[in-house]
Amino acid sequence: MPDLVLHVTGARPNFPKAAPVIRALAELGVPQELIHTGQHYDERMSDVFFRELGLPKPDVNLGVGSGSHAVQTAAIMTGLEEIFLSRRPGMVVVYGDVNSTVAAALVASKLQIPVAHVEAGLRSFDMTMPEEINRLVTDRLSDLLLATSPDAIAHLGNEGTDPDKIHLVGNPMIDTLLANLDRFDADRARADYGLDDRYIVATLHRPGNVDDPADAAALVKAMHAVADQAEIVLPLHPRGRARLEAAGLFDHPKLRVIDPLGYVDFLGLVRGAAAVVTDSGGVQEETTMLGVPCLTLRPNTERPVTITHGTNRLVTRDALPQIVAEVLAAGRSETWPTPPLWDGSAGRRIAAVIAGHLRG
Ligand code: UD1
Ligand code: UDP
Repeated sequence: MPDLVLHVTGARPNFPKAAPVIRALAELGVPQELIHTGQHYDERMSDVFFRELGLPKPDVNLGVGSGSHAVQTAAIMTGLEEIFLSRRPGMVVVYGDVNSTVAAALVASKLQIPVAHVEAGLRSFDMTMPEEINRLVTDRLSDLLLATSPDAIAHLGNEGTDPDKIHLVGNPMIDTLLANLDRFDADRARADYGLDDRYIVATLHRPGNVDDPADAAALVKAMHAVADQAEIVLPLHPRGRARLEAAGLFDHPKLRVIDPLGYVDFLGLVRGAAAVVTDSGGVQEETTMLGVPCLTLRPNTERPVTITHGTNRLVTRDALPQIVAEVLAAGRSETWPTPPLWDGSAGRRIAAVIAGHLRG
């Protein structure tokens, strides 16, 4: 079916990016199917997003589950090859920088099926991050590079990408945030967790923070020093849970570790927070739109627009407690800039580019 668009998703951050693109393509009457690779599979990492974001039930779930990078990527590739051969789509759409993204781009490009990459061109220039490898390979193989910010356009240009393939479309994850804004209830979140208005939300899952026991121990020390200043709620990603627990994460009375939250509950909690401490990519963007100070526990970010046009700053573990003290003393700003085209219409722009490509 040359007009069929196949979306490949698999991990938590893919779902809020795909939802507005699928909706906008449906409005244009483009036939489409949704593949879930099964990279993430816990109810709280996957199903809850389908329910809350109105995503269609996946047409196929490959159920690949967890594994080493090679095992997981290979399983996704093997499963997708069969599907791409039987469906023969006119376009495969991939999202972000996870293993499901690069696996789909590799399989589709070798079958000469055009690939559209949503969130193209982001670069941390840190090759120790698996995501950076995934971004570089996916962009090199993609026919449509759909970028969320001007810095991404510049990176693709510097890499010699054909300018005709590159489109600045804005941020579909922000479409989802804006479409659901009325559901993010900070008062209810405070009541649910018995919080006043001086609390911090944290998320932690990057290998560089949680995989090595020495890093985990240093992280726990820093988080406990933050919890000495304000209550922390930490919906903990399954990666690194055991390491962080072994390093004593749960041993502070003001640091509440909870299971991952659904999208609406999570962003309700974030909306009311005095600050967010995170190593997530998507959360840097969402806090920027919500005006919540974001302290990113990483040496770099592939999303510098959240620093230049948002509320984000990079912090080290050592500096974190002092910076939290400053942020708590300063309070939240009344006004802040937001990046260009993060306006709720990225999905429609992406759909228009894809539909135009399908028409030839
Ligand atoms: C993946 C992405 C990362 C993204 C993150 C978003 C890659 C290389 N990494 O990292 O870029 O920021 O998703 O959340 O694709 N696990 C569960 N239940 C699940 C899923 C995972 O328990 O539903 C546990 C398993 O022990 C698994 C570990 O988490 O081994 C890591 O999962 P994986 O998908 O390999 O990588 P993430 O760290 O989630
Ligand atoms: N998120 C969520 N519940 C949580 C933590 C995060 O719904 O407990 C959402 C968050 O709002 C964002 C997405 O998950 O939309 C980000 O995913 P994650 O941090 O896992 O991945 P990254 O963006 O770092 O790749």
